[in-house]
Amino acid sequence: MDKLIIKGGNKLKGDVQVSGSKNAALPIFVSTILAPGKNEIRNVPFLRDINTTIKVLESLGAQVVGNGHIVTIDTAGINSCEATYELVKTMRASVLVLGPLLARFGKARVSLPGGCAIGARPINLHLKGLQALGAEINLEHGYVEAKAKRLKGARINFDISTVGGTEHLMMAAATAKGETILENAAREPEIVDLAQILNQMGARIEGAGTDTVRIQGVTELFPTTYSVMPDRIEAGTFMIAAAITGGDIRISGMKPEHLDALVFKLQDAGVEITSRDNVVRVKAPKKLKSVNIKTRPYPGFPTDMQAQFMALMCLAEGASVISENIFENRYMHVSELLRFGADIVIEGNSATVKGVKKLSGAPVMATDLRASASLILAGLAAAETTEISRIYHLDRGYESIEKKLAALGADIVRVKE
Ligand code: EPU
Repeated sequence: MDKLIIKGGNKLKGDVQVSGSKNAALPIFVSTILAPGKNEIRNVPFLRDINTTIKVLESLGAQVVGNGHIVTIDTAGINSCEATYELVKTMRASVLVLGPLLARFGKARVSLPGGCAIGARPINLHLKGLQALGAEINLEHGYVEAKAKRLKGARINFDISTVGGTEHLMMAAATAKGETILENAAREPEIVDLAQILNQMGARIEGAGTDTVRIQGVTELFPTTYSVMPDRIEAGTFMIAAAITGGDIRISGMKPEHLDALVFKLQDAGVEITSRDNVVRVKAPKKLKSVNIKTRPYPGFPTDMQAQFMALMCLAEGASVISENIFENRYMHVSELLRFGADIVIEGNSATVKGVKKLSGAPVMATDLRASASLILAGLAAAETTEISRIYHLDRGYESIEKKLAALGADIVRVKE
């Protein structure tokens, strides 16, 4: 297993390029099931979760060929409608194949994902929505078995804003008979990216990015070529890397408008942020100020940036209150940040972070993807050496993060444990 060794204290400087978005690429890959033939997906990030998605598609009978950041997915030969526990347990987004398989073949058998490090994460709303579209759903031996002759359009009102649920039902409804209306839909930019590729395939989806998505079902979808949007969470993580190290960096290829909530909070903390032609300059202040955040569905403050922002607040002047409102267990990084000498107290879903003068490097363990990112950020700012083990979590969602940080002047290396 690999670990990262960081000698903290270097101010980051220079330019960094953002990779394609993990959370957009995953459903986009899955959507190719609906368009039999050769689909070409561009700007694909090199990540473990992408490899897992490729394995899922190959296990169904698709042919997948990668060439740098371009991946060709030929879904004409799909001949299995089953996604096994082995695959779904390693990446819960694999469950999204259920709807597209059902839509294309009239049946599907997909393992239930189970819980994960950040919360229970049920898929009840995905299944309720598929039932509303006319699917017969049975849960047997840990698997969801779904059947339907042809899905039929319906009006679906989500109890909670769900990113995966909105994406899943948008895909399932694309070839359903008649109109589907998704109300209280999630509005994340990744949903807009998915709607764009589906529309390029011939779907008729309107309103993606708002809370009401209308889908006029079509009879079939056709293969296409599509370029994945930039990863807003990777971009946000680099913004905080600059802020926490007293740095001054330029981030290119990102869409700053996808990160408004984070940008406003960083500016409140004193960070200087300017942007021109999708290049964003982030300059740390002499002293960071404490600010409070509450995670919310988009366009609110993203839960996927909570751990990283907490690392930043550990070094701000004053006290900051951070509330996590999306996942019930997303504070796994707190006990590790305490090992750096941070002052954090959790009560219910809120954490009070009192800024300290300095963090000191420590051996720590990564517990999930964004928690791992927060430990790197703390390590970059901490005095002396930090060793982060179990970094396989990091490889799920950040492409070559240690190389990108090293190019910005960080002293960070990956070694075999
Ligand atoms: N929920 C239900 N029932 C459902 C679906 C969701 O109760 O059927 C609950 C969840 O348990 C959670 C809330 O609704 O409390 C929101 O979950 P959502 O469905 O929006 O999350 P997701 O689709 O499973 C995606 C991202 C996550 C990101 C969340 C929230 C992907 C592959 N994953 O998950 O990304 O945190 O949206 O923005 O797109 C990450 O990248 O580190 C990550 C965890």
